[in-house]
Amino acid sequence: MTPLDFRSDTVTRPSQAMREAMASAEVGDDVLDRDPTMDALERRVAGLLGKEAGLWTPTGCMANTIALLLHLQRGDRFLAPAQAHVLGSELGTPAWLAQGMPEALPWEGGPGRITPMQVWRAAGGAGPYYTLRSSLLCLENTHNFAGGTCLTPAEHRALVEQAHARNLKVHLDGARLWHAAAAQNASLEEMAWGAETVSVCLSKGLGAPMGSVLCVSRDAIEAGRRLRKMLGGGVRQGGVMAAAGMVALDYLPRIPEDHQKAKRLADGLRAMGFQVPVPETNILLVPVPDAPAAVSFLEEARVRVLPVGSALRFITHRDLSDGDVEEAIARVGRIADRLVTTWEGQRPMI
Ligand SMILES: Cc1ncc(COP(=O)(O)O)c(C=O)c1O
Repeated sequence: MTPLDFRSDTVTRPSQAMREAMASAEVGDDVLDRDPTMDALERRVAGLLGKEAGLWTPTGCMANTIALLLHLQRGDRFLAPAQAHVLGSELGTPAWLAQGMPEALPWEGGPGRITPMQVWRAAGGAGPYYTLRSSLLCLENTHNFAGGTCLTPAEHRALVEQAHARNLKVHLDGARLWHAAAAQNASLEEMAWGAETVSVCLSKGLGAPMGSVLCVSRDAIEAGRRLRKMLGGGVRQGGVMAAAGMVALDYLPRIPEDHQKAKRLADGLRAMGFQVPVPETNILLVPVPDAPAAVSFLEEARVRVLPVGSALRFITHRDLSDGDVEEAIARVGRIADRLVTTWEGQRPMI
């Protein structure tokens, strides 16, 4: 039985067209005097987001780290919604490398959502010289660990405006900004409005084997490029990877298909009695009483998922077809009773 891999939208394999584009990419030495394909990709992504410049990085973590390094001075506090990737999933680099003090804001506006009032309160005023300084708001859209929830353009704008009114800069971790824009039927430019820096990932849902782009202002691009080099992210014939990124962007119009698959999966699981929300994008969280046990039962049934807190995280993507989703529903159905109990077979959930 072929495994059906819902662990992440990063598990996709490069398509044949992508491999061919990589093989025939026009390249240069990006560290010495730029690589033409890299340059074209960075310009294209910056253009899509309405920003002045783009900086390719091998990973989303590196893009976020460069952004924080650009914005923070040692000891500065930065605000982010609870469970943001930058807080809990980047091995402490915001503190270790960017030397920032994280402040997690609880989701007062709903799953993954913070409110402008919270930003206002947490930012604090200028205060006397001994006041802790807050200088940055990090947003995440869509919010991965909240289950792919997305801010509307209006919510995003209100948060940015409030941050700016409090003299905070804004970094947007938009690893899946593509999904937020598709779900909101909004342009990427609207979704990125006002943020000084925005990172987007070409390897999440779009099918590239690697690559993110950090969009910044024209003034910040040189500093960003220096930081990337310091972190070991200066690549030479980067056009080989950038070519994959170019092909990945062609998938943007098809993102709604992945959202539909997540909805269908949710409907199928709900019909079995699982209490699942209607997914806003391509991520579905399914609460279970014993997530590690449920993951291993599903693994035996050849459905691969990851635990997120006390839930199972299913992510739909381009390498899972509609038929695969139906097959996954059938496989889960065969072991559903085991998923709603613990290892000890106690505490049935539904
Ligand atoms: C919201 C978010 N930001 C950043 C990242 C980091 O991306 P990478 O794994 O390419 O470093 C991820 C990865 O899953 C993510 O989900």
